[in-house]
Amino acid sequence: MDNKKVLIAGGSGFIGQKLTSLLIDRGYDVSTLTRKPKHRKDIFWNPITREINLSQLSEIDVLVNLVGENIGLGRWTKKRKKELVDSRVDSTTFLCEIAEKMPKLSYFICASAINCYGKESDKIHIESDDFGSNFLSQLIKSWENASDTLASKIPVAKLRIPIVLSENDGALVRIKKITNFGLGAPLGSGKQTMPWIHIADLCRLFAFAIDKKLVGSYNANAGLDSNKDFMKSVALSMKRPFFLPAVPSFLLKLFLGEQACIVLEGIKVSNEKIRAAGFTFQDTTLSSALKKT
Ligand SMILES: NC(=O)c1ccc[n+]([C@@H]2O[C@H](COP(=O)([O-])OP(=O)(O)OC[C@H]3O[C@@H](n4cnc5c(N)ncnc54)[C@H](OP(=O)(O)O)[C@@H]3O)[C@@H](O)[C@H]2O)c1
Repeated sequence: MDNKKVLIAGGSGFIGQKLTSLLIDRGYDVSTLTRKPKHRKDIFWNPITREINLSQLSEIDVLVNLVGENIGLGRWTKKRKKELVDSRVDSTTFLCEIAEKMPKLSYFICASAINCYGKESDKIHIESDDFGSNFLSQLIKSWENASDTLASKIPVAKLRIPIVLSENDGALVRIKKITNFGLGAPLGSGKQTMPWIHIADLCRLFAFAIDKKLVGSYNANAGLDSNKDFMKSVALSMKRPFFLPAVPSFLLKLFLGEQACIVLEGIKVSNEKIRAAGFTFQDTTLSSALKKT
């Protein structure tokens, strides 16, 4: 029997490359949908000009959507915000239109983000809670709604991803650079709650969802720690000092602008739904996850 064929839009990125390796190890036949094909299994598309060769997609069984301009890069000017939204919502809308013309497609899974619930309070959020009203929450709402246009045709899942811990990419690499100079410190109050997941667990979670054909939204956090505990654990794991006072919120806002909310605003979320579906996280404490980074 032929291996199941998976197409990963945005498969060239940080999560996509790791997910590709894991799915290949598990016997899937994986291709990447990219604007800059470099490898044999890369397929060209351009969601802005709506270019794609449909004949290359006729055998695909599973579509994974990891597309999006990096939220953490560049100041959030009006233009940058539009790029962040369009690169997710417009590309997802285009993907769903294409998906309808893919005869064998039986499953669609899309990255989403944990910042969808708005401002942190004492409440521990579950997936059925409302979206928040800030920029990121509304972006995520439009992004998830765009992927749900396929939900009447095939099972559709959205993984609400928190900060992803990995040794060679993502936000942790930037945090480690600062910590390495002895400059690790809490950000803002340090009390804000940071949901996180190790990259290996995230890739296992995508594979689990594909195997089980999970439907709906899932919080994808393995752990929840305060920003202070997080920054301290990183310093400890690197055997670097952690004695500086917290970096004041106003300074972060001055340097980062509105984007400072990524580090200054936390959120409490439950991962009960994905665990009840049968998924087990391998790294549920920062110390075990950071040992692998
Ligand atoms: N990493 C995290 O901590 C995290 C947390 C929460 C949510 N997420 C979400 O998970 C997804 C994958 O994250 P990642 O960290 O792997 O991202 P990444 O490394 O930045 O990769 C994203 C991929 O999307 C494609 N892309 C970027 N801008 C695009 C545009 N304007 N039009 C079309 N394609 C574009 C690129 O592929 P090509 O250049 O090959 O076309 C790129 O490789 C993103 O949607 C992200 O928002 C990530």
